[in-house]
Amino acid sequence: MRTRYVIKNKMDSKEQVVKIQKTANTIYDLKDHTDVKYCSEITDFLIKKLGVNSDQRISTQNFSALVVSRYLTNHSVLESMASRYGSDLQIIELGSGFTPHFLNLRSEVGKYIEIDLDINSKLKEEITKKLTSKDNIIFISGDILSVDVWNKVKDIIDTTKPVIIFSEGVVAQYFTKEQKEKIANLTKDFLVSNGSAFIIDDTIRNHIELHSNPIIKEGMDRVATQSGNNTYKGEVTSLTHEIDNWSKLFNNKVSTIDYILSKPGMDFAINNLKLIVCMRDIKNEFETVLAQLSENNKNTRVWK
Ligand SMILES: C[S@@+](CC[C@H](N)C(=O)[O-])C[C@H]1O[C@@H](n2cnc3c(N)ncnc32)[C@H](O)[C@@H]1O
Repeated sequence: MRTRYVIKNKMDSKEQVVKIQKTANTIYDLKDHTDVKYCSEITDFLIKKLGVNSDQRISTQNFSALVVSRYLTNHSVLESMASRYGSDLQIIELGSGFTPHFLNLRSEVGKYIEIDLDINSKLKEEITKKLTSKDNIIFISGDILSVDVWNKVKDIIDTTKPVIIFSEGVVAQYFTKEQKEKIANLTKDFLVSNGSAFIIDDTIRNHIELHSNPIIKEGMDRVATQSGNNTYKGEVTSLTHEIDNWSKLFNNKVSTIDYILSKPGMDFAINNLKLIVCMRDIKNEFETVLAQLSENNKNTRVWK
């Protein structure tokens, strides 16, 4: 018999499954539109484990393009830093959901830490251990805004070596100004060694110039309703403001990286999106590296 994950009574169980499915958007989009490895294995696992027949997505079909571009762009930076630093590099992924960044890294890093809320963290750990025997991954379950979580991180991170902390589909989309300030305060002491960085994705939320476009409007309305998060549409911000804000919060210069292109019909939006990188660049060596990555991304398209 199939084991369902949580679950005290049937009503809880149903709600919980829907909630988990909503956070699995990216893995379904990557499976449908890219050749990124391990996506089918992870979606099959979720479908079996949760006892669902199909996925429940938080975004529209058009927004799948944004999700695919976001994942690939972040991965291009992780891969570049992993090949530079290898086993000296430590990566911390915030609200990792079911994305396969760790499994797909070609260069091996020292440590990869995924932090997520309890149920997702346990599910991700279970599927990851089925798919790899690599033992440099650590799963921490808990709230990324809690001190307890960062005390656990403190015990396993070596701040004399580079640390990359990144968030994709969580902080930029759903966190308030105060929560962003809190996450910066909780993480900045880890980012002291040269080459350390806090990397945060862009979001349509930051691009008011696109909000009247019907495709964007439809997508944003759906994300706001499906996520049930009031901040997504409620708190006004902009990319310029975000760059300025993160730069102040980390007391660092900020670089931006253009997104990899995906669905051609969505270029009008994706061309405006930029990854925000707050890099500890003591020797002034990363500006050209990041500019080159950005240039490559602008000329890359992945979509099927
Ligand atoms: C929309 S999903 C994005 C998942 C993944 N990063 C991606 O790009 O597909 C948000 C994820 O962040 C997790 N999350 C949300 N708030 C969190 C918090 N305060 N602490 C830890 N994880 C959180 C959720 O459980 C979920 O896995």
